[in-house]
Amino acid sequence: MTPLGVTLIDHPLVQHKLTIMRMKDTSTKNFRQLLREIALLIGYEATRDLELASLEIETPLQTMHSPMIAGKKLVFAPILRAGMGLLEGMLDLVPSARVAHIGLYRDPATLEPVEYYFKAPEDLCDRLTIVLDPMLATANSAVAAVQRLKQRGAENLRLVCLLAAPEGLARFYAAHPDVRVYCAAIDEKLNDHGYIVPGLGDAGDRIYGTK
Ligand code: PRP
Ligand code: URA
Repeated sequence: MTPLGVTLIDHPLVQHKLTIMRMKDTSTKNFRQLLREIALLIGYEATRDLELASLEIETPLQTMHSPMIAGKKLVFAPILRAGMGLLEGMLDLVPSARVAHIGLYRDPATLEPVEYYFKAPEDLCDRLTIVLDPMLATANSAVAAVQRLKQRGAENLRLVCLLAAPEGLARFYAAHPDVRVYCAAIDEKLNDHGYIVPGLGDAGDRIYGTK
């Protein structure tokens, strides 16, 4: 059963692409391209219930009322670095979205998040903010990122990731029960180094070819 607060994207295209991303011999180029494609597909589901407003427009033939997305532009908030791998696909889907960059890395010894950069639009309180990070492992990074966005006024948040560990989902829900998580798979567990297994390895290294 899918845990509380989680939407699992089991679309065959997402599952197929994810399998290729997990393979250890998949090239950096293909890994990055697949992540972009999956981001668009998960983003489609994560925005399925956006509110619409009816707008009066003129077609070449007559006037009509037609739906448009209501409210202010969305904000995508990638957690650097690996979250940037999801950003392009999300922007393919919603090209006019704003972007909040959250620089966090996970200290390899303590697994605690260390912030090194934060820049977000001023009016977060009026916008839906979608946090992006392919990996939800211990969830320390995502919990801290959402906390930071809430401190800056964000009230309406979602989290898009690719893989999640059951431990991370439980911790994230305990910290932020108001933030729905959209992910492509829930893996077995975390290993002793806080890596998701079976997982896909270090997402940042695989996106940018740094190992
Ligand atoms: C990875 C990943 C998440 C975090 C997940 O980033 O992209 O941000 O680890 O782990 P957690 O749920 O246990 O916090 P990493 O710190 O390796 O930085 P990078 O994206 O710069 O490679
Ligand atoms: N970060 C990653 O990139 N991969 C994991 O499995 C855990 C954290």
